[in-house]
Amino acid sequence: MWRYREAIPILKDENIISFDEGFTPLIAIDFAGKTVWIKQDHLFPTGSYKDRGASVLVSKIKELGIKRVVEDSSGNAGCAIAAYCARGNIHCQIFVPENTSPGKLAQIQFYGAKLNKVPGSREDTARAVWQAAVKNYYASHSWNPFFFQGTKTLAFEVCEQLGWKTPDSVVVPVGNGTLLLGAWFGFNELLKAGIIPKLPQIIGIQSAHCAPLYKAFKEGLTPIPKIEKEDTLAEGIAIAEPIRGKQILAAVKKTAGQIIAVSELEIKKSLRDMAQKGFYIEPTSAATIAGLRQYLKISSPNENIVSVFTGHGLKATEKMLKML
Ligand SMILES: Cc1ncc(COP(=O)(O)O)c(C=O)c1O
Repeated sequence: MWRYREAIPILKDENIISFDEGFTPLIAIDFAGKTVWIKQDHLFPTGSYKDRGASVLVSKIKELGIKRVVEDSSGNAGCAIAAYCARGNIHCQIFVPENTSPGKLAQIQFYGAKLNKVPGSREDTARAVWQAAVKNYYASHSWNPFFFQGTKTLAFEVCEQLGWKTPDSVVVPVGNGTLLLGAWFGFNELLKAGIIPKLPQIIGIQSAHCAPLYKAFKEGLTPIPKIEKEDTLAEGIAIAEPIRGKQILAAVKKTAGQIIAVSELEIKKSLRDMAQKGFYIEPTSAATIAGLRQYLKISSPNENIVSVFTGHGLKATEKMLKML
């Protein structure tokens, strides 16, 4: 992804922390007779697209001379920040909800990060890290703008891999919106630079068990409503209080996009379908594919659609075993 060096705001090359990641394969997959381009971001070094954001954010942290950071995560962002901090020799402490997939917890600890398991919801974890952030730099993937300077490279790669063409629509998961807003920023930069002629429609996918953005979008509500969250297989997008909610809805509306919610049954079905095609993705990513399937029913016949596998199935072995 550092092929787009001039578009990434790190001042000195010597501060770049990278595993030579990115430019993940874009592969055509058939869904009931319709072809969709899928970006295989589950193939990043730590197993999720969060490496895009972590590479840029941790590089910036190095550039600022910061030696200790804290971060909160549903798991994957914690893995990514921990890995890049390990590579950059930066001390990091990761806060996660105690019910996070054990595979992600192991990964975070193996990278040498200090792990804090917080009882309660994802929101309780966010509140716990704020206290730690009073004295330490907050390497937050949701608040910190440098994370989005990394996730925007998804848009650059998609356009380049399509021969510098814009897709008609992009279907992405959305919790706190690090990928959705990253895509929004990236496509806008290409538009402003005159490289692409239009923005794609942005379609955000939520789990019906935790869908504040879906509810706000459908019912035209501002601010984002409080919701009763239920357990969901899609732990990565189980965000009841998305801090950039207003910004996410504005981006979706400006592209004439939409927000779709999917059931647990649809998530399970998509997980199995994808695995039977040879793609082992985590349940959060299967939620995106379930949403994509809903979207395909209303999309135009020749629409050029791109979606993403955001996380690797090996992250969620316990959930997979339970499903067998
Ligand atoms: C695999 C996976 N997909 C999608 C997301 C959604 O990211 P966001 O909450 O930034 O929208 C996450 C977040 O943790 C994730 O782990």
